[in-house]
This record gives sequence, structure tokens and C-alpha cells, in this order.
Amino acid sequence: MPIFLDTGNLAEIERFHRMGIIRGVTTNPTILLKDGVTGGLRGIEARSKEIAKLIAPFPLSVEVTTPDRVEALRQAQMFASWADNIVVKVTIHGPEGELENLEIVHELETKHNIRVNVTAMMSAQQCFLAALAGATYVSMFGGRVNNMGYNACGEIAKLRKVLDQFGLQSQIIVGSTREVLNVIEWLEAGAHIVTVLPDLLKGMIVHPYSKETVQQFLRDAAQAEAMIRGSSA
Ligand code: E4P
Repeated sequence: MPIFLDTGNLAEIERFHRMGIIRGVTTNPTILLKDGVTGGLRGIEARSKEIAKLIAPFPLSVEVTTPDRVEALRQAQMFASWADNIVVKVTIHGPEGELENLEIVHELETKHNIRVNVTAMMSAQQCFLAALAGATYVSMFGGRVNNMGYNACGEIAKLRKVLDQFGLQSQIIVGSTREVLNVIEWLEAGAHIVTVLPDLLKGMIVHPYSKETVQQFLRDAAQAEAMIRGSSA
């Protein structure tokens, strides 16, 4: 399931879903705000239900909006009740490095039968522990890793190796795309999925030389058509 779309924009999701090239959607509070979702949990509910319906049965990740353990568990169960294909996103730890989140992940996956995507991770070791906690998806932020000065490909390759070595079933999602080349390089490094910004997906499709070639085909087809019309006149 190699490509997810990293957006809350319905029109973009619909467009790429119609092409048959995406297998899921990821969101986070920053993305939803950028894509016009306001009104707190009610706003998130409305947009999430629309996206989930549009892409079903492919998964939609929706992130909890609280660092509080009890409230996070409550939100997670509420999100999961909105649609069968909703996956709950939980950050690897709290804002000050609080450790309760992996406990929440383990409880959701094992006691509540809710699929979890552990997010905001920058290293193979974080993702490995999230996988051990039972997360269905482990999300590494490749672009942010690169911006810290080391290559995400190395972390992805190490992670894939240890997941396979210990038979862990978690799927590696790499997000935080910054460049078109990230998609193939991260999949090649071992990611199961790359979640891509809509603009980068457009960049993967459109190539200047392909454009020039298509223009040439259309010009020549028009010229041939004109010649036929000219000879039959
Ligand atoms: C992935 O699931 C994240 O939502 C996203 O890719 C984060 O990207 P950013 O680093 O551009 O915020």
C-alpha cells in the first residue's frame, strides 16, 4: 500500500482517489487547520467522516488533540466510532517527553481493538518501541529527520531490518515529504508507505519533457488532420 495522501483537503483527496493511486489518507491538527477545519472536535468529526466515506475501505489517520491520558483514550474511542476505516494517531510521547502514550497505544490496540498510528517519530529506535507496543502503523517524519542533518533513508532501512528480524507487523509510514524524490527514495529504503503532500504527487506525475512530448504529439496530430482535410477538399 505504498502511497497515502497527507492532507485534509477533500478536493485533492477526491482527485487522486479517482486516479486510483492513493491507498489511504493521513491528517494531523496542523494539516486540518491549514485545510480550513475549525470548530474543535466537531469540525474534525465532520471533515473526518467526509474523508473516511470518500476513501473507504482505505484508512484515514486522525490524531488525538490532547496530552491527557484519560481524554486521549476517550477521544480515540470516539474517533474510531465515526467510521470503520479510521485509524487513531497518537504521538510517541507527550509535549515534555511524558511516557504514557505507548501505554495508550498498547491499550487501544489490545483492549479496544482500535488501529493506532504512532506519530511524530524521528528515529528507528522510537518506531521500534512503538511497534513493540503493538501499533499498526509507525510514522517517521523523514523531512524533519533530513532537516536535523542526518539522512532519513538510513533510519528507515535500520527500522525495516529490525521489524523484519523480529517479525513485527507494524507498517512503516514515512511522512513530512519535502521533495518529489523523497517518495521513491524512502520506499526504496524500506518504508511500506510514504504519505505525500498533494503538490508533490503532482510533481511526480508531471515532467517538463513529457509535456513537450505530449505537445509535439498533439501538434503533429493536428497537422496530419489538417492534411487529410486539405487533400479531401
Ligand atoms: C505524517 O503523518 C505527518 O502528518 C506529516 O507528514 C508531518 O509533516 P511535516 O513535517 O511537514 O509537518
